This record gives sequence, C-alpha cells and structure tokens, in this order.
Amino acid sequence: MKIVTVIGARPQIIKASALSRAISNTYADKIDEVIVHTGQHYDEKMSDIFFSQLQIPKPNYNLNIGSATHGVQTARMIEGIEQVLQKENPDALVIYGDTNSTLAGAVAASKIQIPVVHIEAGLRSFDKTMPEEINRILADNVSTLLFTPTKAGYDNLMNEGFSSKITAKPDFNRPNVYHCGDIMLDNTLHFSDIAINNDEYRQRFGEDFVLCTVHRNTNTDNAEKLSSIFTSLIEIAKRQRIIMPLHPRTKKMMPQMLSKTLFDEVENNKNIQIIEPVGFLEMCYLESASSLIVTDSGGVQKEAYFLQKPCIILRPQTEWVEIVKNKCAVIADTYENKILAAYEQFSDVAYFQKVLSEARKTPIFGDGKSAEFMCKTILETLG
Ligand code: UD1
Ligand code: UDP
Repeated sequence: MKIVTVIGARPQIIKASALSRAISNTYADKIDEVIVHTGQHYDEKMSDIFFSQLQIPKPNYNLNIGSATHGVQTARMIEGIEQVLQKENPDALVIYGDTNSTLAGAVAASKIQIPVVHIEAGLRSFDKTMPEEINRILADNVSTLLFTPTKAGYDNLMNEGFSSKITAKPDFNRPNVYHCGDIMLDNTLHFSDIAINNDEYRQRFGEDFVLCTVHRNTNTDNAEKLSSIFTSLIEIAKRQRIIMPLHPRTKKMMPQMLSKTLFDEVENNKNIQIIEPVGFLEMCYLESASSLIVTDSGGVQKEAYFLQKPCIILRPQTEWVEIVKNKCAVIADTYENKILAAYEQFSDVAYFQKVLSEARKTPIFGDGKSAEFMCKTILETLG
C-alpha cells in the first residue's frame, strides 16, 4: 500500500522517524511511504538537523510554506497537500499531533476521500483558545484511524461520541479508535542510550542543571507571562545553572515582551545559558543529564517522565494529565510563586524518588512499540 505522511513542525519530524523506522525494519516490502514536508518549520535547527540525525528519509516533497498567519499558512498547506494527493493517489494519509500542518493534511485528504490516520489523537486541553485544541478536534473528526497515546486520550474520544467498536474495514463514518501507546516513547527508548553516553555532549553541557524550554504562543506573546517566567528563572539561577535551547519564536518575542532591564538581566546572567535549538540526540542528553525540567512543551513534558525527571509545566493545564495526577509533574502556569514552590519541592531528591517509584507501577505511555502496531493496523484495515 501507499501512504502519504505530512510533517511540518519540529515534533512531527521527530515523531515520524519512529514510523519510518518501523516501515523500513518490518514493512519495507508492504508499505510505500511518501513524505510531504509543509515547510512550517524551516530553520536548519528546527528541521534539517532531524533528518540527518535521526536517519529519516528525505521528504519527497517540500511545500516551503514557511511562517504566516493561521489562515494563510493553513490554506497554502491545504492547496499544496491536495496537489500531492491528487498526483500520488495514496491509500491513506498520516498526520501527527495538532499543528497547522496536521489540520491542513486532515482537510486536504478528507475532502477528496482519502482516509486519514491521526497519530496522537484524542488529546484535549479543553481550552479552545489554544490553536492546537482546534486543530486536534477538527483532525480527529475527519479521521478513519485514530491512535491515542494514553488512556485519557481514548476516554476523551469516547466522551465525544466516538465508538469503541473496531471494524475490519473502517471508513469516514465508522472510524476505529485504538489506545496503543505513545510513538515518542519509541523514539526516546531508541535514541536515549546513544545520547546519554555521548562524551562530547557531556563535555559541552555538563550535568546537574535545570533544562528549560518555552515556545507556547500564550507565553511568548504575553508580556506579563513571559516576564514572570524569566523572573522565576533568575531566582532559580541563584541556586542552579539553567540551560535553555531557545525556540525561534521566543527569541523573536523576548526583546518585544520583556522590559529592557529584565532582558539585559537575563542576557548577562552567567547561570542562564541560552543556546540555539538543539538536535534530538542533544535534547535526549540534556533531558537525562538535568536534575529538573521546566517547560511549556507537550513533547518535553512526556520525555521528562520517560527519563524519570521531575517537570514543572508552564501552562494552566496539560493534555498529559496522568503525569500530574501521579505527582511527577506540577502545573505552575507562569506564576512565580508556584514555579518556585515546585522547584523547592522537587529539589528534595528523596521526595521525587518516592513519587516516581509509586508512579511507575502504572504504565501510561505503552511499551515503546507503538509504531509497529500502527503500521500493522494501517496495513490490515486500509491496505
Ligand atoms: C508550532 C505549533 C505548535 C507546536 C510548535 C512546535 C501551530 C499552530 N503551532 O508552533 O503546536 O508546539 O510548532 O515547535 O501549528 N520560526 C522561525 N523559524 C522556523 C519556524 C518558526 O523563525 O523554522 C518563527 C517565525 O517567526 C514564526 C514563529 O516562529 O512566525 C512561529 O512559528 P509557527 O510554526 O507558526 O508556530 P510555533 O510557535 O513554532
Ligand atoms: N526538541 C529538540 N530540540 C530542542 C527542543 C525540543 O529536539 O531544542 C524536541 C523535544 O525533545 C521533543 C520535541 O522537540 O521531542 C518537542 O517539540 P516542541 O517543544 O517544539 O513542540 P511540542 O511538543 O510542544 O508540540
């Protein structure tokens, strides 16, 4: 069978590597994958670096859409993806997560009756002011195969009226929903050993620091929230070194949103190391060598849990509710008092070890083999 995979933003490129690996390891003679890169992310460190580092096949098509408003960006993507689909005429289209590239793929394929396979389906923040929430709800509702990474994701879909019934030949009106584990766990398990034992990374980054990433539009485009994050980081930096691979969106917004005094204070703080975005192997090293992770990223929250690190979430809610419920992560939003209280609590290593050993009795994200299951299911139901 032939599938077209749509990627565009950094986390999708990383996620797609697991499926491409499963195809080349087990299904090379049965599944032909055509990769379309929308060009939503385009800097070398937001895109190309992952293709070379994770041995992902180069995209067959790059639509080079780049940055624009939501409407313009999504519309251009839909147009480009539709043309590829008409030319390739695949048996299915595969999309990941909740970005504008996800939505564009879902709209383009479903309107010309090509079955949509949504990987990372069912997640909800229950906050429709997030562009991602709109993208994921719309994508789920035109999908034929929905693969949910967690039980919470599966339950969300059931609550929205999806059926738990699995049929041999699902279609638009009778989609199949599978709770099958998280494809990013496949990747962390596959790549983290190589990364953790890399001496060059150890020399470059050291150990026992706080890792921080920030890129959510609700944080970067809001002066009060972004200032509160950096004021908190300055406090933490009095006690511990912080490494912060900076998303280009945040780099662009910092001078606009922070006062000159705060901006200079961050820039001149020797304990806050702001670096360019890094490759996935470096990121696996940074996550595993850190003592604590502070982030508003969806992917990084999960990876903190995979690599057994405490996580402070810089958002008012999370889709990964299980890791908050089991106390391995704390929702602090951007409130300085909450961030610092969580930092204090997680600095107690014995406390976190106790929480973690209790938490790990209940698996949340599957067994690290979800990509194999997805390939097999796609082939059996849509092939
Ligand atoms: C997008 C996704 C978000 C995801 C994130 C992963 C949407 C609506 N948002 O957010 O869900 O968590 O990717 O990182 O799809 N930019 C560059 N170089 C690049 C890419 C972006 O400079 O290679 C800058 C541009 O100024 C651009 C801004 O970052 O306007 C935002 O990029 P965009 O792709 O629109 O959204 P993200 O914030 O990256
Ligand atoms: N990541 C990376 N380099 C970085 C920052 C993040 O490789 O400098 C990886 C991270 O390990 C995770 C993914 O990118 O796998 C998360 O992407 P991001 O935070 O951009 O988006 P989100 O997951 O919030 O959609």
